[in-house]
Amino acid sequence: MKFSLLLFLALATLSSAMPTPTTKDIKVFLCSDSTAAGYGPQTTGVQGFGYYLYPFFTSTFVNSAKGGRSTRSFINEGLWAQLLDQTSPGDYVVIEMGHNDPGTPGTGGDVGVDRAVLSGVGEETVLVRNSTGQDEVVRTFGSYLRQMVADSRVVGAVPVLSGMVPLMEWTDYDTTLQKTWEFTEYSRDVSKTENVLFLDHTAYSVARFQELGYTEAMKLFPNDNIHTNSLGAEINAESFVTSLLCSKGPDATDFKGTLNEEAARIGYDCLDAEYR
Ligand SMILES: *[C@@H]1O[C@H](CO)[C@@H](O)[C@H](O)[C@H]1NC(C)=O
Repeated sequence: MKFSLLLFLALATLSSAMPTPTTKDIKVFLCSDSTAAGYGPQTTGVQGFGYYLYPFFTSTFVNSAKGGRSTRSFINEGLWAQLLDQTSPGDYVVIEMGHNDPGTPGTGGDVGVDRAVLSGVGEETVLVRNSTGQDEVVRTFGSYLRQMVADSRVVGAVPVLSGMVPLMEWTDYDTTLQKTWEFTEYSRDVSKTENVLFLDHTAYSVARFQELGYTEAMKLFPNDNIHTNSLGAEINAESFVTSLLCSKGPDATDFKGTLNEEAARIGYDCLDAEYR
């Protein structure tokens, strides 16, 4: 018994110079905005979906989402560097951005001046004067996402791109929830060119809110058409996990391995390929 254990340990040491991290050692980071950020108990009743993701992972989930941030301001404020500092090789970095990126760079008053990026995934830039009075070269959404993908890979982490959760934009006399979102499509485009796993969180959330219908869905948005209450956040957390369970592509199998049996219990069907 003792001998075989020693032999096993010796063989295990020989077979790999570096210890392989177990699923439990692996961390899953979420880089996102107010739709995902965790809020404490408060009177407005708003909650982000990251708050409800912890129970679905065997791995350690880290919610790095911060309200009001775009790809550009998440990087400029040092939040991105902080996230990367906490990673170890083999960790996952999920990047779900897009709610604060639209707009005209350099405009938008106190809130907007430092966060808007150029639309699209190209290499074009614009020079703006930002709120600290400095000249700043602002790039496209795709360009910031490519930077985040490359930075993640430099530290040995696995980047994952995720489509943003939908705004409650209903048409056809409030019967149809908008399915396609520009910044989700840019993210999907970058996932293809950079060979990154894409989670169609957008489509899986749209499906859940569409199934509820306008009246019930709107009860989950107490303040505006973007921010959910706790119940809405739970739905967006479940749709995130469903989008991962249903995902296909680079790193999909390994990333699914970070989930636990609670995730399998959510039980929503995968969508047809229409949005993937
Ligand atoms: C303004 O631009 C400079 C130069 O690009 C940058 O270092 C700084 O972080 C920006 N300030 C803000 C508040 O984003």
